[in-house]
Amino acid sequence: MYASLRRRFSRRSLAVTTCFGLLAFACAAEEAEGDGSSDDIEIDKLLEVAKNQVDRSKPDPTNVWAKRRLEVGEEEILPGDDAEFADMAKRIQKMQRTVQAQQGASKVVRGFHAKGNACAQGRLDLDPSGLEASTRVGLFAKAGAYPVWARFSNGVGFRQSDKKVDVRGLAFKVLNVDGARMRTVAGDDAARTQDFLMTNGAITPAPDARHFMAFGEAMTGEDDSGTVLGRLNNLIGAGKFLLQPENQRILDFLAHRTAPNTKKVGSMLGDRFFTGGAFAMGLGAGDAEKSRAKAAAKLQAVPGILQGNACTPVEQLPNKADPDYLRTDLAKRLATGTVCIDVYLQFQKNGDSEPMEDTSVEWKTPFVKVGRITFPKVDINAGSGAKAEAFCTDISFTPWHTLADHRPLGNIMRARRPVYRASAELRGAKPEPTGSETF
Ligand code: HEM
Repeated sequence: MYASLRRRFSRRSLAVTTCFGLLAFACAAEEAEGDGSSDDIEIDKLLEVAKNQVDRSKPDPTNVWAKRRLEVGEEEILPGDDAEFADMAKRIQKMQRTVQAQQGASKVVRGFHAKGNACAQGRLDLDPSGLEASTRVGLFAKAGAYPVWARFSNGVGFRQSDKKVDVRGLAFKVLNVDGARMRTVAGDDAARTQDFLMTNGAITPAPDARHFMAFGEAMTGEDDSGTVLGRLNNLIGAGKFLLQPENQRILDFLAHRTAPNTKKVGSMLGDRFFTGGAFAMGLGAGDAEKSRAKAAAKLQAVPGILQGNACTPVEQLPNKADPDYLRTDLAKRLATGTVCIDVYLQFQKNGDSEPMEDTSVEWKTPFVKVGRITFPKVDINAGSGAKAEAFCTDISFTPWHTLADHRPLGNIMRARRPVYRASAELRGAKPEPTGSETF
């Protein structure tokens, strides 16, 4: 069955001449819609295969990490993790160089989330009173107001039209946060920042870092010619990759979540963003690198426009006439209204049904609201607003800019420590902001 699907999909990929997005399968599915050709039927069959094979009530059986039953806050760290993650850091830089050559770009850009849609300064008002007293720790220990930098982005590691199927990202960095920190980059020990990085899905396309990196590499491919033929080879390569049984979750995610969302959501303020991976809410005694988390949580951010006391999500379809419609929309809304982001936490209540090591399984415990970010009116296209945005684009966000109390947990989160650092170093990211910058 796979062999036959592969043949059919390759035919479809060869026929695609205008869809060079890296999320090749979903892109092909989008193009196929509506013309009623026999290719549509093949794609529909493929969607059925994707739909029927994934049971997300359990961890991915091809995920070698989550074999043991884990308690709340517990991780499954294997002896080979560090070596594998260090290798991923080298591989991300290779991907960045490949993309730079393919796009003929003068600068290396982020290994993922290369296209920023807006980056601006705001203010986080925290109110953790809805949390149980025992879980009010770290940043969430008490109410307070903090400056933040927030960057809205698209998912792939290069620039493409917003019309191409892709995930969306939102990262925010809280400043003036005091407490014992995880060390991420030599020289940033004095930093007082706490970052949260999210995409617009409660789960990740890949269950773990190994699958995630393999997918990233399949998408960028080895061909650095930047030619149409090179891109087509990559699409075909990506198609085969997605048809392999171990990548069914990624296929399912792209087909049934990413593609419909891209078609439907025309504003970054109409999406919801999730950390996908977990972080600690307090650590047990001992070495902060290894000690067991007392509790674990994920964060959700729901942006919108402030109307009275409500942060109301924006409902609008994509403006297909504008390849940068997400930026156009954000720039207009940041300049004319009060953009806001409501922030929620979700605690892990069951180590089995809410797995730590497999982020392709959704946690079901309800979220609790803990704060709101608001942005003062700003024109990101001119003057000091544009300068601030340029600064915000050049800094780096990583879950490992963090208090020890919020140490990232789980395979995907652990892998991101050396990988984000490698990506940021290669593109020459600025050091952590202090809050005293002026524009
Ligand atoms: C829970 C899963 C993940 C989420 C929610 C997520 C989210 C994000 C977001 C929002 C950004 C953009 C940050 C910015 O605006 O600067 C980003 C960047 C990036 N992500 Fe992820 N990501 C995830 C997993 C991964 C994994 C598993 C890898 C690779 C192992 C990875 C590699 C990268 C890289 C290299 C960058 C660019 C870093 C830089 O140059 O500053 N991500 N991610």
